[in-house]
Amino acid sequence: MDQDIGKRMDALIEQIEYHRRRYYLEDNPVISDQEYDALERALGELEEARPDLTRPDSPTQRVGGFVAKEHPVRAHRRPMLSLGNAYDEGDVRRFMERVREAIDEEVAYCAELKIDGLSLSAIYERGVLARAVTRGDGSVGEEVTANAKTIRELPLRVEAWSDLEEMEVRGEVYMSRRGFEALNERRLAEGAALFANPRNAAAGAMRLLDSGEAAKRGLRLFAYQAIGDWAARFDSHFGALDALAGLGFPVNPHNRQVAGADEVLALIEEWNELRGRLDYETDGLVLKVDNPGFHEAIGYTAKFPKWALAYKFAAEQATSRVESVTVQVGRTGVLTPVANLEPVKLAGTTVSRATLHNFDEIEKKDIRVGDWVFVEKGGDIIPKVVKVVVERRTGEERPVPVPGQCPSCGAKPEREEDQVAIRCVNLACPAQLERRIQHFASRNAMDIQGLGSERVQQMVAKGLLTDLSSIYRLDEDKLWKLDRVGDKWIANLLGEIEKSKAKPFSKLLYAVGLPMIGEKAAELLVDRFESYAQLRQAEQEDIAAIHGLGDKVAASLRRSLDMAGYCQAFEAFGELGLALEQKRPAADGGPKPLAGKTVVVTGVLSRYTRSEVAGKLKELGAQVTGSVTKKTDYLLAGEKAGSKLAKAQALGVDIKDEAWVNQWLET
Ligand code: IVH
Repeated sequence: MDQDIGKRMDALIEQIEYHRRRYYLEDNPVISDQEYDALERALGELEEARPDLTRPDSPTQRVGGFVAKEHPVRAHRRPMLSLGNAYDEGDVRRFMERVREAIDEEVAYCAELKIDGLSLSAIYERGVLARAVTRGDGSVGEEVTANAKTIRELPLRVEAWSDLEEMEVRGEVYMSRRGFEALNERRLAEGAALFANPRNAAAGAMRLLDSGEAAKRGLRLFAYQAIGDWAARFDSHFGALDALAGLGFPVNPHNRQVAGADEVLALIEEWNELRGRLDYETDGLVLKVDNPGFHEAIGYTAKFPKWALAYKFAAEQATSRVESVTVQVGRTGVLTPVANLEPVKLAGTTVSRATLHNFDEIEKKDIRVGDWVFVEKGGDIIPKVVKVVVERRTGEERPVPVPGQCPSCGAKPEREEDQVAIRCVNLACPAQLERRIQHFASRNAMDIQGLGSERVQQMVAKGLLTDLSSIYRLDEDKLWKLDRVGDKWIANLLGEIEKSKAKPFSKLLYAVGLPMIGEKAAELLVDRFESYAQLRQAEQEDIAAIHGLGDKVAASLRRSLDMAGYCQAFEAFGELGLALEQKRPAADGGPKPLAGKTVVVTGVLSRYTRSEVAGKLKELGAQVTGSVTKKTDYLLAGEKAGSKLAKAQALGVDIKDEAWVNQWLET
């Protein structure tokens, strides 16, 4: 019986191990998450019944549950050294020169991303993970085995090493950017202190005493060194890492063998550009003489090997003081707080401003004028404030008030329900006006060429443009007031403006720049309401019922439609001769057999293209949408219909073929 249970446990562990590798290392699972969980649960149940048979390398250990009083101190058998740093091309060339002098020949290097986390030593005894120890001071670190086991990518057993007394693998524990964002968001919601960056978050998680808690932090690892008999047989570090990957260790896929300074410098430049796209932070590139046979000859300083070097990228994070906060006004009137900082070097440039996103964010992160903050340049061009260094407060810091007035026009800003944005709702607000006009004139809106940003700026400054409709009151006399203009330019611009009056109502609706109304939304609205007069009267529920819009858009639009500024704008457009309605082609009394029906078209049709059929269906009164939902009445399926057909079948949607539309079209 015991033997049976033991065997079942072994078989489950083997299965789980196989699927763990497929999922975490190869990104190519063959079972669902639920099936994987079921395997772990089955093993857990057996272990609960027979704790005495529980193996130390059981994957159930990965969910943690062990609560330590403290982390015991352990000496490293071999010191965990750090790396000498290089900051520019000269440093790299000098390093390579010294290596060449030491061994009298040009050597190959293994170039690895320097992962920004914390180093960990994992000891395997007879192939089973026995101990994991942090770097500590390099000679002694803290034993954090239970926490290390929660790292799903780290093998708990390595079959190929079962004959070896001891093997050691070193690597970098880190947190992914996505994991970090999610963790900080959770902490913000809970009112817990934020982590400044993924490295701090990973270090914090690794030091937790409750490994169940550590398991929730989603720690990851890249192995970068193997020490022991197995490793000693490789004459290339790169080859050893490759073999580690073969045994199931997570090894960074971007490791490369390189030779010569030019190749190394090109790689540095490449990663300096690309590193922002990775889902984990790297702070540099590590160069290691690839042949370990040379290492002793090249030697060591007290702190680091002379055969390796860390080229450090310019930091993406820095600390600075918030000197003041200014409020910026965006095109649709959104007021965005921006921190003015004491200038600080960040990722190679000097930064003196950082976005604070919105006033909710300021309150949640408790950012005050005078605070020391962490600023970060991520994927975005504008740096952002990550968190406050509360420890550096002096008591002199002042809270940032939510503005009671628009900084540009003085109007009282409003806040929409369910939204964080605070908005200036004065359409004539000068700060908004320039950007509004540019949007209005842009290609996909009214397409008025000649109203570029510089011209608009001048026209607003000279008082020629005071609101959107004032574009249509421009004339020769007014335009001559501008600098550097001629007859031809003026005639062209007036011609463009005149031409734009013929744009369909859906374009105008988009061009006006109502909050949350993009091109697609404007079209959907005109499909449903046909004219400004109808739209003006529309109930919020009727707007929300339009497939593709939803409650938030409807609420926002309903508010905008009631705002005096927008009402006046549309009225003026009407008086100036712009189209405020757009009849559907067959609205002149044609039969509407599909009125009120929602239709989705998919697959290849023989007589018409999909968009032609969509047009016809609209003429017949149908609303044509892009995706199949419970609300879909009919799916018109042509040849090679794929997932939409399957979904319609699953939802019980009435499925029609081409003949169904042809019955109305042939007459
Ligand atoms: S090799 C003797 N390789 O950088 C060689 N270190 O500044 C020791 N690190 O303590 C380290 N990625 O925590 C190496 N691919 C990599 C690394 C790496 C990150 C960290 C490691 C080390 C620190 C040195």
